[in-house]
Parts: sequence; C-alpha cells; structure tokens
Amino acid sequence: MKINIFKTAEEIGAAVAEIFTDTVKANPSCVLGLATGATPVPTYKNIIKTFNEGGISFKDVKTYNLDEYCNLPKNDKNSYYTFMHEQLFNGLDILEENVHFLDGNAADPEAECKAYDAEINAAGGIDVQLLGIGNNAHIGFNEPADTFTEGSFKVKLTESTINANKIYFDENPMPEYALTMGIKQIVSAKKVILIATGEKKAEAVRNMIEGPVTAQVPASVLQEHDDALIFLDEAAASLLTK
Ligand code: PGA
Repeated sequence: MKINIFKTAEEIGAAVAEIFTDTVKANPSCVLGLATGATPVPTYKNIIKTFNEGGISFKDVKTYNLDEYCNLPKNDKNSYYTFMHEQLFNGLDILEENVHFLDGNAADPEAECKAYDAEINAAGGIDVQLLGIGNNAHIGFNEPADTFTEGSFKVKLTESTINANKIYFDENPMPEYALTMGIKQIVSAKKVILIATGEKKAEAVRNMIEGPVTAQVPASVLQEHDDALIFLDEAAASLLTK
C-alpha cells in the first residue's frame, strides 16, 4: 500500500484524475473499474476537464461499475447508472455500449452476477479500479463479514451503510439490497486506487492501514495488493499513528 496524504479533496481529485487520464492516453482501450458516492466526484470533474482540453478519447475505454442498488429503476435519480452518467459519462466521448453495470433488477441476480464477472474476465480484467471506503470500511458494498467474498453477489446492506446513504433518498425509501462486485474480484485489478476524505472516514482508514487484514475490515485486504494507492485528505488521515 502506498499512502498519499493531501490537504484537500480537490487536490486528490486532480491527482487521481491524472492517473486515470494517463492510463487512457497510454492504453486507449483500457478497462476501468469505477465507483460512486461523494468521494469520486472531484476525480470525475477533473477527468472531464482534461478531456475538454483535448488530446484524449474514451471511445475505446470500457468501464465496469462496482455496484448497483436492487429494486430501483435503472433511470431513477438515485441509481448508480444515473449517477455515473451525470457525474462522468455525459461529459466524455465514451460509448454507451462500453459502460457496464450490474443489473439490480435482474430476475435472476445470481446469473446476472456470474455473467458480469465473466464479461470482466473476457475484457481482460480491470486495469485501474477506483474505490471509496464506507464508514464501516466496506469497499463496493462488501460489508464487514467473516470471510472475504469472491465474485459479484447480492448483498443485504448494513445499518451503517443505510444510514450513510439514505440522505439521498427523499422520495422513496433506500433499497436494502444491492448487487456488488466481490472482494477477491476487486483486488484482482492490476492497480487499485482508494480515496478517503473527511473525518468520518478516519477510523475506517486507520483500521484499513494499521489493523490486521480481516474481512471484518473489508478494505484491509488492500494491504496485500501489489499496486494499491491510498489517497487521504488530512481529516481522513488524522487517526493514523505511524
Ligand atoms: P461516499 O461513499 O463516497 O459517499 O462517502 C463511499 C463508500 O460507501 O464506499
């Protein structure tokens, strides 16, 4: 794990966006794993800014998102499909057929998860995977558990996650289930970038970096990854002791 501490979330957004745009420039048909939530928003803004400056195309880039809610229409304002289009895809020349999501409304979630994992493998695996971290140290929607999960699966969200995300649901109740990529699959990406910003993440960050590798702290699995870059602002890094 390589830890990078910046003053602000905006500075992290610029630094992480540069890694992504450099990846696309070096390999225009790369495969990116993307995340939702408040954390990646500055990164996505900066990727669009670089795209608008010219000299880079996302036409051959493929993306796979980490997770999607169950029982929420694809075009709902709170779906991750909508979020990604509003925050990133609509600002790029990426092709709709190249952006991929787990279908949280699939009649057979298990078959949907298997098909998604097979598609990622067929694409050659993920080159760079972006992650946020939950207050409970989840990555994707892999909540604290007894063992590290493998491939994509249907998960019942914990109270901690529901409390953190329900603020976005003003009309309908927040879904209690989601489909998510599994942990072993997430860490099979060649490079993993985790961003944590704000004081609320400080405890999860300390446990991820300084605690034991355990499925009770899902993000701690990154300690064992060969190319994991952690980007923290000062608030998220405030409980680190080393
Ligand atoms: P956030 O969510 O970026 O909205 O804090 C991160 C996560 O739950 O992984």
